[in-house]
Amino acid sequence: MIMMAAVAWFTSRSCAVTLLLLSLRFANGDVSYSFPEEMRRGSLIGNIAKDLGLDTGTLSARKARIDTDGSDKRFCDINRNGDLIVAERIDREGLCGDKASCALKQELMLENPLELHRINLHVQDINDNPPQFNTELIHIDIRESTAKGARFPIEEAHDADIGKYSVQTYNLQRNDHFILGVAANSVELVLNKELDREHLKEINLLLAAVDGGSPQRSGTAVIHITVLDANDNVPAFSQTVFKASLPENAPLGTVVLTVSATDADEGINGEVAYDFGHITEDLRSVFNIDHKTGDIKLMAPVDFETASSFELRVTAKDGLGLTSFAKVIIAISDINDNAPVIYLKSLTNPIPENVTPGTEVGIINVQDRDSEKNRQVRCTIQQNVPFKLVPSIKNYYSLVTTGQLDRELVSDYNITISATDEGSPPLSSSKTVQLSVADINDNPPVFEEQSYSAYVTENNKPGSTLCSVTARDPDWRQNGTVIYSLLPGEVNGAPVSSYVSVNGDTGVIHAVRSFDYEQLRNFKVQVMARDNGSPPLSSNVTVSVFISDVNDNSPQILYPALEGNSFMTELVPKAAHGGSLVSKVIAVDADSGQNAWLSYRIVTSTDPGLFTIGVHSGEIRTQRDISESDSMKQNLIVAVKDNGQPSLSATCSMYLIISDNLAEVTELKDISYDEKNSKLTSYLIVALVSVSTFFLTFIIIIMGVRFCRRRKPRLLFDGAVAIPSAYLPPNYADVDGTGTLRSTYNYDAYLTTGSRTSDFKFVTSYNDNTLPADQTLRKSPSDFADVFGDCDSSLEVGTCIIFG
Ligand SMILES: *[C@@H]1O[C@H](CO)[C@@H](O)[C@H](O)[C@H]1NC(C)=O
Ligand SMILES: *[C@@H]1O[C@H](CO)[C@@H](O)[C@H](O)[C@H]1NC(C)=O
Ligand SMILES: *[C@@H]1O[C@H](CO)[C@@H](O)[C@H](O)[C@H]1NC(C)=O
Repeated sequence: MIMMAAVAWFTSRSCAVTLLLLSLRFANGDVSYSFPEEMRRGSLIGNIAKDLGLDTGTLSARKARIDTDGSDKRFCDINRNGDLIVAERIDREGLCGDKASCALKQELMLENPLELHRINLHVQDINDNPPQFNTELIHIDIRESTAKGARFPIEEAHDADIGKYSVQTYNLQRNDHFILGVAANSVELVLNKELDREHLKEINLLLAAVDGGSPQRSGTAVIHITVLDANDNVPAFSQTVFKASLPENAPLGTVVLTVSATDADEGINGEVAYDFGHITEDLRSVFNIDHKTGDIKLMAPVDFETASSFELRVTAKDGLGLTSFAKVIIAISDINDNAPVIYLKSLTNPIPENVTPGTEVGIINVQDRDSEKNRQVRCTIQQNVPFKLVPSIKNYYSLVTTGQLDRELVSDYNITISATDEGSPPLSSSKTVQLSVADINDNPPVFEEQSYSAYVTENNKPGSTLCSVTARDPDWRQNGTVIYSLLPGEVNGAPVSSYVSVNGDTGVIHAVRSFDYEQLRNFKVQVMARDNGSPPLSSNVTVSVFISDVNDNSPQILYPALEGNSFMTELVPKAAHGGSLVSKVIAVDADSGQNAWLSYRIVTSTDPGLFTIGVHSGEIRTQRDISESDSMKQNLIVAVKDNGQPSLSATCSMYLIISDNLAEVTELKDISYDEKNSKLTSYLIVALVSVSTFFLTFIIIIMGVRFCRRRKPRLLFDGAVAIPSAYLPPNYADVDGTGTLRSTYNYDAYLTTGSRTSDFKFVTSYNDNTLPADQTLRKSPSDFADVFGDCDSSLEVGTCIIFG
């Protein structure tokens, strides 16, 4: 087998075809190669890339491959250089039999965009088969009296090769009696010189059939001639060629055709026996000939798709061995017995959910092995999926998307493609393509609530849980993994992170510190939920934290209070009637609501029946008219209590002097040793005064220090004297949510010093420049503990002292 230079014809049909197929995004071109059969595997057929003008660099990226129709064999391959090489043994005789031309169809397929090129492989014959006679020994009986010129047919030799490589000539061994003659379907032995049985009973002649190859191949047979006494007629077929047609899949046993030959002789010499001449073993199993009747019967199924016609040789032989020959051609007709087959040639799986509508995700090819109408196929796809089939060249279809995909709605598609041919009845088949949609980070996390509120009572433990936020993200894996964080911000000038923290995984919000309602009633933080995609998506939510009050501040007494170093006292006119306003205890409470609702009570008094105090107003009034017998000095101890649970309280002492004369009062400055009161009481007063002086001095110093630091008092004054009536009772329900505290609050205090007509009034603005009261007010029992060790909060006493 000599490698022959392959000849390539490149038929560029691009001009016509491109115009037609431009819209289908296909290119098409045919290329033909002609080369001899039986080339070794790997032998080069031609460079197809060059012949088609393809860029060899892109071949592997475009998945260049050789494809065949259905179950056809793949005879060639394409390598990286674009060479077309032999992949399978190519035996022309096995593939095409005695057809004059042997063309194999293969396809070159490229993707992106889909391109198909038909490759026609013309396989050329080589002289690889010698001529062959059907039998090696041919018997012929000839009567001795046979005249010169008589002809005796001999079956031709067969050569699987075709054309000049088939049998060209016959050579007969040199002899005295016979020469060769040629007739249709046979060779003939021609008697050239009469036989004489008495001289020669048997003759053996060597017959050679020679083909036209170089070197020549030949086959031989021995002709054995017996010289007889009698003469016969040769059987004669009614036709030299018999033709019949047979539908494929015809039932076994069907009589396809009956051949007949007649012999003019009588008796055994006229009995004709039929048989097949030279036919292949395969054919012998498909057809059977009845030796007597000449009926040719079907013995095995025939398939149009495998072989569409058969050619048989038949012989008719009489009793004495005289034979004649004929041909039988059986054409097989097509039946729609092959359903279309759907091949998935290429598939992008999974597809990202953000592909634009119209993207090609797969290529399918539909084939039907039947012919003509039976192989016309229509292809459809089921409804209600966002995909469609776009037909392109030669039973190829592109599967393209028709709409936007959304993995969060549908993540998998089972696409059923059905193909139906146009035979009658039609056959159909279907194929299911599974497609997954890949995730794209296209959904931000979304909080379950538009905003969140957390409620916490003050003095909470640091680290306690306030509330929890949840955001959902329907994306896949890390694209849907939500991480929570605090957005930077400020609360009261401090970073928000010093107030609360959020657990990144769970969204649980914790307090970082203990909150003080008196400083901060509510605040807002922004929490961000971010997914883990790249780039990440996020959303924000506001969390409002509301702090509620706990009764942690005792009432603070503003009046009676210290003025400088001297104690205040009240002057009660002797003529005061019952019910006269004598004085007022003013107290405030830093808490709010019930915790700041104060009530006043007289705990002890010098003369229990003389004075009463308004439970909520703190106003001290005479209960009856003053009489001469009443002691001039009256002491009251007043307790102020809030309404919290448990309630907190404070007490103060009030010094009242019943007198009309200020001079009298001044005398009393010498702490009235000559009083009717017991000495013990005097001592107690002295002790109380000195302790209080000491104590108040400290308080004033501390108040001064704290006052400098704290600029904005945050107190609402409860129960102040003559507070505009809107504020009485004290500001319950003052958790108004605005969070703004009245930094400046005016209140009036009326101090009654004497008769109702001589009341004087001082007005004070509660602001930064007034009383350092908020220092006192801020004090919780523990603050006092800091300063005075273990002193009880009830030590917080406003003291009035008598002067005069
Ligand atoms: C697709 O088919 C597979 C296998 O038959 C099945 O498991 C899957 O649930 C189907 N999916 C859909 C979306 O119908
Ligand atoms: C997340 O989304 C990105 C594109 O936004 C994609 O490339 C990636 O594959 C996705 N991750 C997963 C786990 O699906
Ligand atoms: C959330 O807030 C941050 C900081 O203010 C901002 O950068 C981001 O764009 C916000 N995200 C959304 C979804 O509003």
